[in-house]
Amino acid sequence: MFNETLRLSNSVTIPTLGLGTWLLDDGQAEQAVGDAVSLGYRHIDTAQAYQNEAGVGKGIRSCGVAREELFITTKVAAEAKNYAAAAHSIDESLAKLGLDYIDLLIIHSPQPWKEFREENRYFQENKDVWKAMEDAYTDGKVKAIGLSNFLQDDIDNILESCEIKPMVNQILAHVSNTPLALIEYCQKNGILIEAYSPIAHGAILDHAELKAIAEKYGVSVAQLSLRYDIQLGLVVIPKTANPEHMRVNAELDFVISDADMEILKKIEPIQNYGEHSFFPVFGGKMAKHQEVKAGVIFPAGEKNEAFAQYFTGQSYLKTLVADPKVNVGVGNVTFEPGCRNNWHIHRGGFQVLLVTGGEGWYQEEGKPAQSLKAGDVIVTHDGVKHWHGATQDSWFEHIAVTAGTPEWLEPVANEDYDNL
Ligand SMILES: NC(=O)c1ccc[n+]([C@@H]2O[C@H](COP(=O)([O-])OP(=O)(O)OC[C@H]3O[C@@H](n4cnc5c(N)ncnc54)[C@H](OP(=O)(O)O)[C@@H]3O)[C@@H](O)[C@H]2O)c1
Repeated sequence: MFNETLRLSNSVTIPTLGLGTWLLDDGQAEQAVGDAVSLGYRHIDTAQAYQNEAGVGKGIRSCGVAREELFITTKVAAEAKNYAAAAHSIDESLAKLGLDYIDLLIIHSPQPWKEFREENRYFQENKDVWKAMEDAYTDGKVKAIGLSNFLQDDIDNILESCEIKPMVNQILAHVSNTPLALIEYCQKNGILIEAYSPIAHGAILDHAELKAIAEKYGVSVAQLSLRYDIQLGLVVIPKTANPEHMRVNAELDFVISDADMEILKKIEPIQNYGEHSFFPVFGGKMAKHQEVKAGVIFPAGEKNEAFAQYFTGQSYLKTLVADPKVNVGVGNVTFEPGCRNNWHIHRGGFQVLLVTGGEGWYQEEGKPAQSLKAGDVIVTHDGVKHWHGATQDSWFEHIAVTAGTPEWLEPVANEDYDNL
């Protein structure tokens, strides 16, 4: 597989198989690049947003293979929506990667992630960003330029005024979610399609029908999925930091029959991407305050199994004080977006909440809900019925100082919570 390449409209060749690096930190990315290159990979996909360009760059510089034999892609952040911001970010990428040039530079998304697929299409802004891409290309900072997540009208917007046509569009394309019309449109316009999340971010690995077809060819579902995209004429960039997975992902020396390709094109669309569904690229909404996830002052604890039955959604608990000789307990509670506890009352005691991060709600019975942010302090008196938790779109964290015995009551009704 390693010798297979495709040709971009400006005659640059791109290896058909690349390594994705989303969700790898600098250290993991450096290691993964080194492992992948020693196995034979020559194409690495990163992005400003992955915050691992420095790690990818280190991996490239220490891998022992000449720079010109490697193909490195990075992406201008979805939020950089004017000429100056895009141009500055390209120079920053070169500095972080520690490279003289980037092989392929693409606009990560037509809209900032928080507005992904919303009304404002950023048509003029994308033209301005494209100009910065063209200038970087003309200046020799990048060997090819392209797009990602662009729909047909986003592409038309660029085509109607560009001097240099986009060479690629990197889009979500895997078995059970293949945008065939968009692929055909791009291919007709000389725009090569790169398939991201080619194995559905891992969400199709247990798919029974795919397992059966894969078995017929004596391959894994991951291999079948990669081969499917390749037979559609797409570049694939599966992500893994596991050398064994890297190895098998390159063993694609089999051919899916035309009949099976037709079956694969029609596999029921995937319903959800599990715990990753909130990423905009999988049709979700980017949650706010992701930084809270790891804990703000104190580390986020384990999954809060002890109180799970009194919560809607997932929370995490780190016990800070549980000393029988003092009459308060102290815990750090982290709430995923949409998570909240049931209505409850502290009997024979009280509770003090010290909000450390994110955005949340506190409500006492018969009163309006109060919006909470870091630095807020809430005191709940003995006998007062109340609840607290995250907003729908944000992580949330507080320290709870609690005395007495909680009496747990009914969950907060979905319609009440949704209307906040
Ligand atoms: N342009 C965009 O907006 C955009 C969006 C998403 C992704 N991307 C790019 O596309 C790349 C790939 O997409 P992705 O990371 O979402 O998902 P993916 O490559 O479809 O799937 C990655 C998942 O599959 C697992 N996996 C990989 N090879 C495997 C194998 N042989 N057997 C079993 N499991 C295997 C990985 O686990 P292990 O790590 O344990 O192997 C990981 O959990 C990204 O890294 C990024 O570079 C671009």
